[in-house]
Amino acid sequence: MPSLSSSTLAIPAAGDVPRHVAIIMDGNGRWATRRHLPRVAGHARGVETVRAMVEGCSQAGVEYLTLFAFSSENWRRPADEVSYLMGLFLRVMEREVSRLERRGVRLRVVGDTSAFEPKLRESIRKAEARTAGNDHLHLTIAANYGGRWDILNAFHQLLRARPELAADPESITEEDMAPYLAMAYAPEPDLFIRTGGEQRISNFMIWQLAYTELYFTDRFWPDFDREALAEAFTWYRQRERRFGRTSAQLAAAAAAAAQRG
Ligand code: FPP
Repeated sequence: MPSLSSSTLAIPAAGDVPRHVAIIMDGNGRWATRRHLPRVAGHARGVETVRAMVEGCSQAGVEYLTLFAFSSENWRRPADEVSYLMGLFLRVMEREVSRLERRGVRLRVVGDTSAFEPKLRESIRKAEARTAGNDHLHLTIAANYGGRWDILNAFHQLLRARPELAADPESITEEDMAPYLAMAYAPEPDLFIRTGGEQRISNFMIWQLAYTELYFTDRFWPDFDREALAEAFTWYRQRERRFGRTSAQLAAAAAAAAQRG
């Protein structure tokens, strides 16, 4: 085998349920506008979908659920919408944590949270600490997150930890970088879902989505319910994940695994 340096070398065990689901929750504003409501009403309803997804994924056996709540680019929105979203995040951190605790959910927030108000940062810290012992479902909220920021940040941290690498850049491998990514604790997503009709990755987990199955739906996030999640899982089950290999290689690997028992 050539000296290929890739974080996705092994053929992952094919499962019916994705281990890691990553979602771009899009369409809140349009959902509200269609109902002649202010855009922020869509964000408020979006929280109900978040609850439904946590329950749905948890019951289906998903281990990691990652939600893109606020991108680095979202600061460009009207000031009153940004301010509403910050207040909503604070309420979610304060009010949802007991429910998450009861359900065995571990919550983490990834992204450059240094830009948030101290009160929000503190509520994030407390929510993360209160759920740190849980491992039934790992829920990650990406907030003020961008995939390029994540990669660059990982690179900075790697060079800070191992400055000698700067003198020999060609020796740097994917495996050196990966532990410094914000979500180093999670496997790469198996299934990516974007609601709201756009077919873009929008700078979300661009490193980790390299081999992920991409599912796009026209449904707005507030309308994305457990039935819609089940449809996405059905679509996922029908995908053949080859990771650059041929179908015959996958069939041989599956037969060998079956023989091992
Ligand atoms: C995108 O819809 C949605 C957001 C930028 C905010 C998402 C936030 C929530 C669903 C609240 C949940 C909070 C937490 C902490 C999980 P959009 O406004 O871009 O919709 P549009 O494309 O129709 O305008």
